[in-house]
Amino acid sequence: MKRTKYTIANWKMNGSKKSVKIIKSFVKYMKKSNYSSSKIIICPPFTLLSNFIKEEPNILYGAQDCHHLDFGAYTGSISALMLKSIGCKYVIVGHSERREYQSESSTDLSKKIDAALRNNLKVIYCIGEKKEQIKKRYSVLNQQIKSLPSKFSHNNIIIAYEPVWAIGTGMTPSILDINEIHLKIRNLLSKKIGKEISNKISILYGGSVNSSNSSDILSLDQVDGALVGGASLKSKDFCKIFDSY
Ligand code: PGA
Repeated sequence: MKRTKYTIANWKMNGSKKSVKIIKSFVKYMKKSNYSSSKIIICPPFTLLSNFIKEEPNILYGAQDCHHLDFGAYTGSISALMLKSIGCKYVIVGHSERREYQSESSTDLSKKIDAALRNNLKVIYCIGEKKEQIKKRYSVLNQQIKSLPSKFSHNNIIIAYEPVWAIGTGMTPSILDINEIHLKIRNLLSKKIGKEISNKISILYGGSVNSSNSSDILSLDQVDGALVGGASLKSKDFCKIFDSY
């Protein structure tokens, strides 16, 4: 099954106006090598999105969060409608750092996913178990998958499997484990949405992806790309990662 591949940069709370030069270097590299192996999506902080979209429109952009309503008295929040209006195409929902530090519940996440889809944004939905949950990994993942709507397609939902214990730690599951976990996630999705669509959904791996481990991870048949944190802020490293399919 040929699925769309994605290499996604999650800049978290990093970057400045000047960081557009990092994105320009990605675009230059892609043009030089006539790059087409994966879709590349950059998710900078809200403050930089609009400026980056204007300054370097030759790449795709995503936000790191959205509110579940379109507008209103919600100080400090940004809606999916607002993101759409500036030309943003994707939004990350359910990142473990937001589940943890912003106490986002599965109900909150369902509402955010609905808001994003209602506004024609594509959702990068993150799931993953904590270290102490490894033994009950599949029930945790299944629970997280329940936040997805009853109907969706591979055109508007991307899944990112990010074991929480692998994020920013330099640790990853073994290569064999990554493939097996992705296959099991696809089976869980199949129970929810049916085999035909679940076979088309892109499931990315995230958590300590770097330029040394990317080719092993990205060559796995069940892995349809990577969600990259730390290494996506360094132009050379990120180019090496998206070039390793
Ligand atoms: P990391 O982060 O690549 O720095 O581990 C990944 C993520 O949190 O999306």
